[in-house]
Amino acid sequence: MPSKLLAATLAATTSALSSYSPPPPKLIKQCAWQQTHCATAPQFRNVVQWYEGDAHGSGNWGVTYRRYVDGFVKAVADDLGIEEGATVFESAVGEGWFLSGLYELLDVAFDVAGNDVSMKAIEECRMELPWGSFAVGDSLNLTWVDPQRFDAVICAYVEPGENENEAAVTETWVREMCRLAKPSARVFVGNVRPPRGVTDAAAGAYLKPPEDLVTEAWWEAKAGDWGVDDVRIVPLTDATLLEEWGPRYHVFMRKRAAERKWPSWQDDMVTGGF
Ligand SMILES: C[S@@+](CC[C@H](N)C(=O)[O-])C[C@H]1O[C@@H](n2cnc3c(N)ncnc32)[C@H](O)[C@@H]1O
Ligand SMILES: *[C@@H]1O[C@H](CO)[C@@H](O)[C@H](O)[C@H]1NC(C)=O
Repeated sequence: MPSKLLAATLAATTSALSSYSPPPPKLIKQCAWQQTHCATAPQFRNVVQWYEGDAHGSGNWGVTYRRYVDGFVKAVADDLGIEEGATVFESAVGEGWFLSGLYELLDVAFDVAGNDVSMKAIEECRMELPWGSFAVGDSLNLTWVDPQRFDAVICAYVEPGENENEAAVTETWVREMCRLAKPSARVFVGNVRPPRGVTDAAAGAYLKPPEDLVTEAWWEAKAGDWGVDDVRIVPLTDATLLEEWGPRYHVFMRKRAAERKWPSWQDDMVTGGF
């Protein structure tokens, strides 16, 4: 009898073991340096206070989740080229509204990761999207995330502060995003606001040198430096969101295809031989 029981137990254990598949490795890991940096660097204090205070729980957008998804995410989701098994990274992921919207709208299984400067936002993402990997970190420095790992890298946009050089901030921000994209992957920046002086004549005091401004033409000019091309600008058209946020546009780009690389010994032969 006991041996029969043992055999049955063994069989059950073996079949349980053979059907066990380990969870897939997390796409990103929390970086201790970044966590300390985000909690202590003075430039984040106001941002974190605002997003963890007044703006918290409203997805940071001032509109309902439904409005946000129907008016914005729905208009862009299909053009992100997210296919079955894709890996997606969102820079400054906030409370994960954009990603939740994608899961709602797209009929494919994909894996996600994202960063935000706010611990509270990251905790929210981990709760809402427990299969994803989320970490506290500065979008201006994503060196702690694997480069060329993602099939789509997105950002639903953050505005540089009024006293910052918006072109300089945006350039670093998007360069960091593009580094994470695989060859031929999509890179998407949503809800970019045209320079205030351009759309709002009343903002006459808002005088900045033109080279500090992010205009629609600016994206095309910078794309080469980031290793992307195929730049496409699409305006936000949803009436309610336009009323709430003012004019905005979205930028679709594509990382260049991998270049054929000479093995280094061939380089040596070429340079050595001529
Ligand atoms: C308007 S919310 C957008 C949230 C999200 N993209 C969405 O669509 O639901 C902007 C987010 O950017 C974050 N943020 C601002 N500056 C950042 C930085 N330098 N690095 C990382 N996150 C930042 C804020 O904490 C906030 O959660
Ligand atoms: C960027 O972040 C890494 C750690 O994630 C850190 O070691 C490095 O010093 C940071 N770079 C800058 C310029 O702050």
